[in-house]
Amino acid sequence: MGADARKTAEALSYLTGFGNEHASEAVPGALPEGRNAPQRAPFGLYAEQLSGTAFTEPRAHNRRSWLYRIRPSAAHPEFTRTGNGALRTAPFTETVPDPNRLRWNPLPEPPAGTDFLAGLWTLGGNGDATQRTGMAVHLYHANSSMERVFSDADGELLIVPERGGLLLHTEFGRLHVEPAQVALIPRGVRFRVELLDAGSDGGPSPTARGYVCENYGAPLRLPDLGPIGANGLANPRDFQAPVAAYEDETGPVEVVNKFCGNLWTAVYDHSPLDVVAWHGNYVPYLYDLRRFNVIGTISYDHPDPSIFTVLTSPSDTPGLAGVDFVVFAPRWLVGEDTFRPPYFHRNVMSEYMGLIEGAYDAKAEGFVPGGGSLHNMMSAHGPDRETFEKASAAELRPQRIDDGLAFMFETRWPVALTPHAATADHLQPRYDDVWRGLERHFRAP
Ligand SMILES: [Fe+2]
Repeated sequence: MGADARKTAEALSYLTGFGNEHASEAVPGALPEGRNAPQRAPFGLYAEQLSGTAFTEPRAHNRRSWLYRIRPSAAHPEFTRTGNGALRTAPFTETVPDPNRLRWNPLPEPPAGTDFLAGLWTLGGNGDATQRTGMAVHLYHANSSMERVFSDADGELLIVPERGGLLLHTEFGRLHVEPAQVALIPRGVRFRVELLDAGSDGGPSPTARGYVCENYGAPLRLPDLGPIGANGLANPRDFQAPVAAYEDETGPVEVVNKFCGNLWTAVYDHSPLDVVAWHGNYVPYLYDLRRFNVIGTISYDHPDPSIFTVLTSPSDTPGLAGVDFVVFAPRWLVGEDTFRPPYFHRNVMSEYMGLIEGAYDAKAEGFVPGGGSLHNMMSAHGPDRETFEKASAAELRPQRIDDGLAFMFETRWPVALTPHAATADHLQPRYDDVWRGLERHFRAP
């Protein structure tokens, strides 16, 4: 791959969800001035609007972009059903929702030739994609770049790589995303995933592994900051949008569309990644989790982990998210007279946690990069016995947590599993045992 192909994103400030317009053109002059759909768009391009929200949603939440492309998206043949692989969609009704704490090891190695789409494996989720509510937790493990193009009408895709870099070729241009970064593909935007890295064994075949939150609800946006003020957490200027780049190619291209839970396929006679210029606020973007401005206590006790929210998908109830994306980034712990690991907890929200690298401060072992845990609605969780005992006796000097990067998809509804997640060989038996042996220390005065 040449240096030019790796030129992917530039530091466009992207005020997620706050209506800011962005514009990019691969050919100077391709963006019409002053009008979205002039009688004749520059250079013979077609003008097309992509609406991610209803026309009439409030301006602060309204998302749409104008695309100036070689052929309009409408020029395509009929879609026909194709296999869904291990991809599943809400409503998740095939298993009984499980109150047990569950934890998985990483996905096993897929067969050779598995691309990102074929490598998607759904753990579970909630809501109903046809009602645009809820979310799904997917993992992926791929060892081949996509030749085909994919789009998801059911929701936006927050891609969280854990192993291997990805080059996302999107209608809006390219995004190069590495572990510790995340990328978001808006609902309906076409893209292709190229794998960038050699195998972990140093072999020639690329491999990529990670997590995907498919959000059926309102587009993820930055949370309000309230008394925190105008700065902090994920700062808007750290979100990067792609630079316009297009493929002017004829010849058969398979395009796969996920629609109401099923995959549909059509063979186009051209690449649909043919947008020469665009403007708007409905745009793929990239965010580096190491830019997260962690805010925490400088006196005693923890703020709740909502203080680590990167992005949130609000519901119709203020403060109640369809899904929050939360990161546990490197930070200092300085709380006085404070049990410093995450506290014991039961939560009306349901928590899926994954690990991008290193270790997590509430678990001594068993929670590994590429794996994940699910603590469903009101399921009791917290530090394991070893962590509890160590932290209870620790000297409370300032301590830097910098050996891991964990994240959470936290959702307002219980997560129901797919049958293949409920019976997976890589589902850990006896996860409950990490809380065995938490001894009785109570002594009545
Ligand atoms: Fe929790």
